[in-house]
Amino acid sequence: MSSSLRPLIAGNWKMNGLKRESAEELKSLIHKASEQNSVGCDILICPPATLVASMAELANGSPVSIGGQDCHANEKGAHTGDTSAQMLKDAGADYVLVGHSERRTDHDESNEKVKAKAEAALKAGLIAVVCVGETLQERESGQTLSVISDQVSRSLPAGGTAENLVIAYEPVWAIGTGKTPTVEDVADVHAHIRNDLQALLKDADGVRLLYGGSVKGSNAAELMNVAHVNGALVGGASLKAEDFWPIVETVL
Ligand code: PGA
Repeated sequence: MSSSLRPLIAGNWKMNGLKRESAEELKSLIHKASEQNSVGCDILICPPATLVASMAELANGSPVSIGGQDCHANEKGAHTGDTSAQMLKDAGADYVLVGHSERRTDHDESNEKVKAKAEAALKAGLIAVVCVGETLQERESGQTLSVISDQVSRSLPAGGTAENLVIAYEPVWAIGTGKTPTVEDVADVHAHIRNDLQALLKDADGVRLLYGGSVKGSNAAELMNVAHVNGALVGGASLKAEDFWPIVETVL
Protein backbone atom coordinates (compact mmCIF):
# COMPACT_ATOMS: atom_id res chain seq x y z
CA MET A 1 0.00 0.00 0.00
CA SER A 2 1.14 3.48 -0.71
CA SER A 3 0.28 5.03 2.65
CA SER A 4 0.58 4.37 6.33
CA LEU A 5 -3.19 4.34 6.93
CA ARG A 6 -4.52 0.94 7.93
CA PRO A 7 -6.27 -0.36 4.82
CA LEU A 8 -9.92 -1.36 4.82
CA ILE A 9 -11.18 -4.06 2.48
CA ALA A 10 -14.96 -4.00 2.46
CA GLY A 11 -17.37 -6.42 0.81
CA ASN A 12 -20.84 -5.26 -0.21
CA TRP A 13 -23.08 -8.28 -0.68
CA LYS A 14 -25.94 -6.12 -1.98
CA MET A 15 -29.23 -8.06 -2.23
CA ASN A 16 -27.53 -11.45 -2.12
CA GLY A 17 -27.34 -14.03 0.61
CA LEU A 18 -29.45 -16.53 2.48
CA LYS A 19 -28.70 -17.74 5.99
CA ARG A 20 -26.96 -21.04 5.51
CA GLU A 21 -24.72 -20.35 2.47
CA SER A 22 -23.80 -16.89 3.74
CA ALA A 23 -22.75 -18.28 7.10
CA GLU A 24 -20.49 -20.78 5.30
CA GLU A 25 -18.84 -18.01 3.27
CA LEU A 26 -18.33 -15.82 6.31
CA LYS A 27 -16.89 -18.72 8.32
CA SER A 28 -14.49 -19.45 5.50
CA LEU A 29 -13.39 -15.81 5.40
CA ILE A 30 -12.93 -15.69 9.18
CA HIS A 31 -10.94 -18.90 8.99
CA LYS A 32 -8.59 -17.46 6.36
CA ALA A 33 -8.13 -14.29 8.41
CA SER A 34 -7.58 -16.20 11.63
CA GLU A 35 -4.80 -18.24 10.05
CA GLN A 36 -2.67 -15.09 9.76
CA ASN A 37 -0.27 -14.20 12.57
CA SER A 38 -1.43 -10.65 12.30
CA VAL A 39 -3.98 -9.07 10.01
CA GLY A 40 -2.62 -5.76 8.74
CA CYS A 41 -5.92 -4.41 7.52
CA ASP A 42 -9.53 -4.03 8.56
CA ILE A 43 -11.97 -6.42 6.88
CA LEU A 44 -15.64 -5.59 6.56
CA ILE A 45 -18.64 -7.48 5.19
CA CYS A 46 -21.93 -5.66 4.57
CA PRO A 47 -24.61 -8.34 4.19
CA PRO A 48 -28.27 -7.61 3.46
CA ALA A 49 -30.21 -6.29 6.48
CA THR A 50 -31.78 -9.70 7.14
CA LEU A 51 -28.36 -11.17 7.85
CA VAL A 52 -26.67 -8.40 9.83
CA ALA A 53 -27.50 -9.83 13.26
CA SER A 54 -26.58 -13.45 12.49
CA MET A 55 -23.38 -12.50 10.62
CA ALA A 56 -22.36 -10.14 13.44
CA GLU A 57 -22.82 -12.95 15.91
CA LEU A 58 -20.65 -15.25 13.80
CA ALA A 59 -17.97 -12.61 13.32
CA ASN A 60 -17.90 -11.53 16.96
CA GLY A 61 -14.30 -11.59 18.25
CA SER A 62 -12.89 -12.26 14.75
CA PRO A 63 -10.89 -9.93 12.49
CA VAL A 64 -14.01 -9.40 10.34
CA SER A 65 -16.44 -6.55 11.06
CA ILE A 66 -20.04 -6.36 9.87
CA GLY A 67 -21.84 -3.37 8.40
CA GLY A 68 -25.19 -2.36 6.98
CA GLN A 69 -25.70 -1.27 3.36
CA ASP A 70 -27.93 1.71 4.16
CA CYS A 71 -29.73 3.31 7.08
CA HIS A 72 -32.59 5.74 7.58
CA ALA A 73 -31.76 9.24 8.75
CA ASN A 74 -34.17 8.98 11.70
CA GLU A 75 -33.65 6.92 14.83
CA LYS A 76 -37.11 5.35 14.76
CA GLY A 77 -40.66 6.00 13.70
CA ALA A 78 -43.20 5.45 10.97
CA HIS A 79 -40.88 4.47 8.10
CA THR A 80 -42.12 1.12 6.84
CA GLY A 81 -39.38 -1.10 5.51
CA ASP A 82 -36.50 1.06 6.70
CA THR A 83 -33.73 0.28 9.16
CA SER A 84 -32.19 2.86 11.47
CA ALA A 85 -28.50 3.21 12.24
CA GLN A 86 -29.26 2.50 15.87
CA MET A 87 -30.93 -0.79 14.87
CA LEU A 88 -27.87 -1.79 12.86
CA LYS A 89 -25.65 -0.99 15.83
CA ASP A 90 -27.97 -2.97 18.07
CA ALA A 91 -27.73 -5.92 15.65
CA GLY A 92 -23.92 -5.89 15.97
CA ALA A 93 -22.83 -3.74 13.02
CA ASP A 94 -19.84 -1.42 13.28
CA TYR A 95 -20.15 0.27 9.88
CA VAL A 96 -22.80 1.35 7.40
CA LEU A 97 -22.55 2.28 3.73
CA VAL A 98 -24.41 5.44 2.78
CA GLY A 99 -24.97 6.97 -0.64
CA HIS A 100 -24.09 3.91 -2.70
CA SER A 101 -24.87 4.73 -6.32
CA GLU A 102 -27.56 2.03 -6.39
CA ARG A 103 -29.28 3.85 -3.50
CA ARG A 104 -28.76 7.24 -5.12
CA THR A 105 -30.31 5.93 -8.37
CA ASP A 106 -32.92 3.39 -7.23
CA HIS A 107 -34.15 5.43 -4.26
CA ASP A 108 -33.51 8.96 -5.47
CA GLU A 109 -31.09 9.72 -2.66
CA SER A 110 -29.76 13.25 -2.83
CA ASN A 111 -26.48 14.39 -1.30
CA GLU A 112 -28.50 16.03 1.46
CA LYS A 113 -30.21 12.75 2.27
CA VAL A 114 -26.89 10.92 2.24
CA LYS A 115 -25.43 13.49 4.63
CA ALA A 116 -28.39 13.05 7.01
CA LYS A 117 -27.92 9.27 6.91
CA ALA A 118 -24.19 9.61 7.57
CA GLU A 119 -24.93 11.87 10.53
CA ALA A 120 -27.40 9.31 11.88
CA ALA A 121 -24.69 6.66 11.51
CA LEU A 122 -22.18 8.69 13.54
CA LYS A 123 -24.78 9.44 16.17
CA ALA A 124 -25.44 5.70 16.54
CA GLY A 125 -21.71 5.01 16.94
CA LEU A 126 -21.23 3.48 13.50
CA ILE A 127 -18.47 4.27 11.02
CA ALA A 128 -20.05 5.81 7.92
CA VAL A 129 -18.72 4.76 4.52
CA VAL A 130 -19.88 7.58 2.26
CA CYS A 131 -19.93 6.55 -1.42
CA VAL A 132 -19.42 8.95 -4.31
CA GLY A 133 -18.86 8.48 -8.04
CA GLU A 134 -19.52 9.90 -11.48
CA THR A 135 -21.68 8.44 -14.24
CA LEU A 136 -20.24 7.59 -17.65
CA GLN A 137 -21.86 10.65 -19.15
CA GLU A 138 -20.31 12.88 -16.48
CA ARG A 139 -16.90 11.33 -17.10
CA GLU A 140 -17.17 11.67 -20.86
CA SER A 141 -18.15 15.30 -20.59
CA GLY A 142 -15.16 16.09 -18.39
CA GLN A 143 -17.15 16.70 -15.22
CA THR A 144 -15.72 13.94 -13.03
CA LEU A 145 -13.76 16.07 -10.58
CA SER A 146 -16.47 18.70 -10.15
CA VAL A 147 -19.16 16.04 -9.63
CA ILE A 148 -17.01 14.30 -7.02
CA SER A 149 -16.23 17.57 -5.22
CA ASP A 150 -19.90 18.40 -5.12
CA GLN A 151 -20.85 14.96 -3.77
CA VAL A 152 -18.08 14.96 -1.17
CA SER A 153 -18.77 18.42 0.18
CA ARG A 154 -22.55 17.97 0.28
CA SER A 155 -22.66 14.37 1.56
CA LEU A 156 -20.06 14.73 4.30
CA PRO A 157 -21.56 14.42 7.80
CA ALA A 158 -21.01 17.15 10.39
CA GLY A 159 -18.70 15.66 13.01
CA GLY A 160 -16.88 13.39 10.55
CA THR A 161 -13.36 12.40 11.62
CA ALA A 162 -10.68 9.95 10.56
CA GLU A 163 -12.14 7.51 13.09
CA ASN A 164 -15.78 7.57 12.08
CA LEU A 165 -15.68 8.36 8.38
CA VAL A 166 -14.51 6.50 5.28
CA ILE A 167 -15.04 7.68 1.70
CA ALA A 168 -15.49 5.23 -1.17
CA TYR A 169 -14.93 6.43 -4.72
CA GLU A 170 -16.95 4.23 -7.05
CA PRO A 171 -17.36 5.34 -10.66
CA VAL A 172 -20.94 4.34 -11.48
CA TRP A 173 -19.88 2.95 -14.87
CA ALA A 174 -17.32 0.65 -13.24
CA ILE A 175 -19.77 -1.00 -10.84
CA GLY A 176 -20.57 -4.56 -11.85
CA THR A 177 -19.34 -3.99 -15.41
CA GLY A 178 -15.84 -5.44 -15.32
CA LYS A 179 -14.55 -2.02 -16.42
CA THR A 180 -12.17 -0.04 -14.25
CA PRO A 181 -10.63 3.40 -14.67
CA THR A 182 -6.91 3.58 -15.39
CA VAL A 183 -4.67 3.80 -12.36
CA GLU A 184 -3.90 7.38 -13.43
CA ASP A 185 -7.60 8.25 -13.34
CA VAL A 186 -8.02 6.65 -9.92
CA ALA A 187 -4.93 8.54 -8.69
CA ASP A 188 -6.35 11.84 -9.96
CA VAL A 189 -9.72 11.39 -8.29
CA HIS A 190 -8.29 10.15 -4.99
CA ALA A 191 -5.78 13.02 -4.80
CA HIS A 192 -8.62 15.39 -5.59
CA ILE A 193 -10.80 13.95 -2.80
CA ARG A 194 -7.90 14.16 -0.33
CA ASN A 195 -7.38 17.76 -1.30
CA ASP A 196 -11.08 18.58 -0.91
CA LEU A 197 -11.16 16.91 2.50
CA GLN A 198 -8.28 19.06 3.70
CA ALA A 199 -10.52 22.10 3.36
CA LEU A 200 -13.44 20.36 5.09
CA LEU A 201 -11.98 18.34 7.97
CA LYS A 202 -9.21 18.73 10.52
CA ASP A 203 -7.80 15.23 10.26
CA ALA A 204 -8.42 14.82 6.53
CA ASP A 205 -5.17 12.94 5.99
CA GLY A 206 -6.33 10.16 8.29
CA VAL A 207 -9.61 9.47 6.47
CA ARG A 208 -9.42 6.27 4.45
CA LEU A 209 -10.35 6.56 0.79
CA LEU A 210 -11.53 3.31 -0.82
CA TYR A 211 -11.73 2.55 -4.51
CA GLY A 212 -14.72 0.49 -5.66
CA GLY A 213 -15.99 -0.76 -9.02
CA SER A 214 -15.08 -4.14 -10.52
CA VAL A 215 -12.28 -4.82 -8.04
CA LYS A 216 -11.17 -8.44 -8.22
CA GLY A 217 -8.20 -10.59 -7.32
CA SER A 218 -6.48 -9.92 -10.63
CA ASN A 219 -6.58 -6.10 -10.50
CA ALA A 220 -6.59 -5.40 -6.76
CA ALA A 221 -2.82 -5.19 -6.24
CA GLU A 222 -2.43 -2.56 -8.94
CA LEU A 223 -5.38 -0.50 -7.65
CA MET A 224 -4.33 -0.78 -4.00
CA ASN A 225 -0.91 0.63 -4.90
CA VAL A 226 -2.29 3.92 -6.16
CA ALA A 227 -1.52 6.94 -3.97
CA HIS A 228 -4.38 7.84 -1.61
CA VAL A 229 -6.11 4.49 -2.18
CA ASN A 230 -6.48 3.05 1.31
CA GLY A 231 -8.59 0.03 0.54
CA ALA A 232 -11.41 -1.31 -1.61
CA LEU A 233 -15.17 -1.60 -1.67
CA VAL A 234 -15.97 -4.85 -3.45
CA GLY A 235 -19.32 -6.06 -4.76
CA GLY A 236 -19.43 -9.19 -6.92
CA ALA A 237 -16.03 -10.50 -5.84
CA SER A 238 -16.96 -10.32 -2.15
CA LEU A 239 -19.70 -12.95 -2.30
CA LYS A 240 -17.36 -15.91 -2.17
CA ALA A 241 -14.57 -16.02 0.40
CA GLU A 242 -12.27 -17.64 -2.17
CA ASP A 243 -12.68 -14.60 -4.49
CA PHE A 244 -12.58 -12.00 -1.70
CA TRP A 245 -9.57 -13.32 0.17
CA PRO A 246 -7.03 -12.68 -2.67
CA ILE A 247 -8.13 -9.02 -2.59
CA VAL A 248 -7.58 -8.86 1.18
CA GLU A 249 -4.18 -10.50 0.67
CA THR A 250 -2.96 -7.63 -1.49
CA VAL A 251 -2.90 -5.36 1.58
CA LEU A 252 -2.04 -7.83 4.34
P1 PGA B 1 -18.63 -4.47 -8.04
O1 PGA B 1 -19.49 -3.54 -7.06
O2 PGA B 1 -17.35 -4.82 -7.29
O3 PGA B 1 -19.50 -5.66 -8.29
O4 PGA B 1 -18.33 -3.67 -9.26
C1 PGA B 1 -18.89 -2.57 -6.26
C2 PGA B 1 -19.91 -1.86 -5.44
O5 PGA B 1 -21.01 -1.56 -5.94
O6 PGA B 1 -19.67 -1.56 -4.24
